Amino acid sequence: MQFSIILALAASASAATLQRRQAQTYPIADFSADCIPHSNYCSHSYNFTVNSDPSLSPSHCSAFVQGPDQLPAVEEGTCSDNVGYTWSIEPTSDGGLDFAIWYAFNARSNITYCASIPASQITTETDGTANTQHYTGPKNLTASISECPA
Ligand SMILES: *[C@@H]1O[C@H](CO)[C@@H](O)[C@H](O)[C@H]1NC(C)=O
Ligand SMILES: *[C@@H]1O[C@H](CO)[C@@H](O)[C@H](O)[C@H]1NC(C)=O
Ligand SMILES: *[C@@H]1O[C@H](CO)[C@@H](O)[C@H](O)[C@H]1NC(C)=O
Repeated sequence: MQFSIILALAASASAATLQRRQAQTYPIADFSADCIPHSNYCSHSYNFTVNSDPSLSPSHCSAFVQGPDQLPAVEEGTCSDNVGYTWSIEPTSDGGLDFAIWYAFNARSNITYCASIPASQITTETDGTANTQHYTGPKNLTASISECPA
């Protein structure tokens, strides 16, 4: 009984320490998501930089995915100048995008920051038979631990 209380206290103390040491938000800059149209498909380009420490140069992250009309999912995107980051894009049912970026905190856990891109920030253009989608929201986003689904 007492032993389990001590364990619970130790676990909550380390969670609090982890929360304190890590920034709660992460700045994402120059975000773009575009279809570059070809005959009947798009090369979808995602591009952004991340710079958690202004004294360091930013990391560049991008993905190039072919597909039809809609901005597609990216399951494990990379950042060319920082292998520590992994990121993802998930289209939502209401036409927006869920963005997440994470890195290893220790051998057992990653720290993840998320941002929701509403459908109103994605423009769909119809060009003859094909649709093309572009992100038209702010270039800079703030990803936050508290935005991630629990
Ligand atoms: C976006 O973020 C970059 C990098 O932090 C910064 O240089 C730029 O001024 C920001 N742009 C806007 C419009 O806030
Ligand atoms: C994406 O970023 C790279 C540099 O990191 C740049 O060369 C490329 O033009 C960018 N693409 C778009 C569509 O902005
Ligand atoms: C942390 O992220 C990496 C890269 O996506 C993944 O391979 C690994 O399984 C994740 N670890 C945990 C504990 O979720």
